[in-house]
Amino acid sequence: MNSERNIAVVGLGYVGLPLAVALSKNFPVIGYDRDSQRIAQLREGFDRTNELERQTLEAASIRYSDDSAELTNADIFIVAVPTPVDASNQPDLTALSGATELVGGVVRKGSIVVFESTVYPGVTEDICGPILERVSGLKCGTDILLGYSPERINPGDTVHTVDKIVKIVAGQTTEVAQLLAEIYGSMNGEKIFVAKDIKTAEAAKVIENAQRDINIAFMNEIAQIFGRLDISVYDVLEAANTKWNFLPFTPGLVGGHCIGVDPYYLAHAAKTAGFDPTVLLSGRAINDAMAEYVADRISENLESGSTILVLGLAFKENVPDLRNSKVGDLVARLQTNGHTVFVHDPLVDATEALSEYGIKLCDDLPNNVDCVVGCVAHTAYHDLKFANVLNEGGLIADLKGVWRGAEAMKDFRYWTL
Ligand SMILES: NC(=O)c1ccc[n+]([C@@H]2O[C@H](COP(=O)([O-])OP(=O)(O)OC[C@H]3O[C@@H](n4cnc5c(N)ncnc54)[C@H](O)[C@@H]3O)[C@@H](O)[C@H]2O)c1
Repeated sequence: MNSERNIAVVGLGYVGLPLAVALSKNFPVIGYDRDSQRIAQLREGFDRTNELERQTLEAASIRYSDDSAELTNADIFIVAVPTPVDASNQPDLTALSGATELVGGVVRKGSIVVFESTVYPGVTEDICGPILERVSGLKCGTDILLGYSPERINPGDTVHTVDKIVKIVAGQTTEVAQLLAEIYGSMNGEKIFVAKDIKTAEAAKVIENAQRDINIAFMNEIAQIFGRLDISVYDVLEAANTKWNFLPFTPGLVGGHCIGVDPYYLAHAAKTAGFDPTVLLSGRAINDAMAEYVADRISENLESGSTILVLGLAFKENVPDLRNSKVGDLVARLQTNGHTVFVHDPLVDATEALSEYGIKLCDDLPNNVDCVVGCVAHTAYHDLKFANVLNEGGLIADLKGVWRGAEAMKDFRYWTL
């Protein structure tokens, strides 16, 4: 099987790159991205997403290219491009359609096109399939065969990597599903689940993330209830988590490319089918409003015109990923509430922070601020020396509860959810 299949991975981001590297152990792989800078960096062994070490990249035999003409030798195409929402929270399929058109220009009879991007049920067969047919002049289901295999990795998670987790695969025919099971199985010790069909696999992925969003929304709601009752949600969770079937979620800001986005894809599919998805959208509303809630609670504990240091801008801990970070909303609200805000994050790219959020990151931690807000629990912040940054009587606002019970909390005022 190995020598017969040439695989092209289209889109080399958080998902596409680790996948290309894992597949390249058993197959000839060409990695295509339209971002020439990304291709140049990968050729030099540098992954700006921090997912792969230089050593791993240099050891992988992948042909990187930003020229679609080089894809003509491939017979299996795996598409892993972004699927965000637009300003009205509607699915934005621009990148997916663009990548599908590009693949349509290079497929031939017998090609297999697999999508890894997260979508709502029906996108692969009802949107991508017709694009491939239009551009190639070939017929899906006979000339070209479609597949879907959702990606489940988390940015920054070094345990659940693509070569260790169960992969769902689905194909337009049983034969394609079986072939994909063999291909993906060769990179992850055959941990494969063959879904009933493509729509089922698309639906499974989107509910995995929607389920997390709703569970976090419940945590955010109870955090707000308990805040009014003067109880810390973290103290409550510590107690409740001792029950065997209590689900271990925590409150917080829901950003990133997946959990805060995918429920809108499912909501779109629901509405198109004439159903109003109240639970999904209430969860989204609660999570989207959490940054403002936190900023307002912090402001209640401060004089107007205070100086505040916000720690962390990435959407989650220990990653440089800024996409859809809700810390931007929190900073904006603190500024609207009349404070001067400094933002620090050693992991994110300062140019990207400025262009995406208009936030100029500070290189070093300032001193003598009135409040430190722990927003993102980067490991680097766990042992912060508060006396170096906070004024006497200053406020520590600990959104993630990482400093609860720490010795230093006795010397300052402390707020958490
Ligand atoms: N980030 C995650 O951990 C994660 C996990 C599971 C699923 N997903 C899903 O996987 C998909 C990809 O996400 P990601 O995080 O890897 O995105 P990303 O932004 O990190 O990477 C996407 C890459 O695709 C490239 N690209 C964009 N349009 C292109 C086009 N038309 N042709 C070729 N390349 C193009 C971009 O330059 C970029 O390098 C999304 O649907 C996402 O929801 C992501």
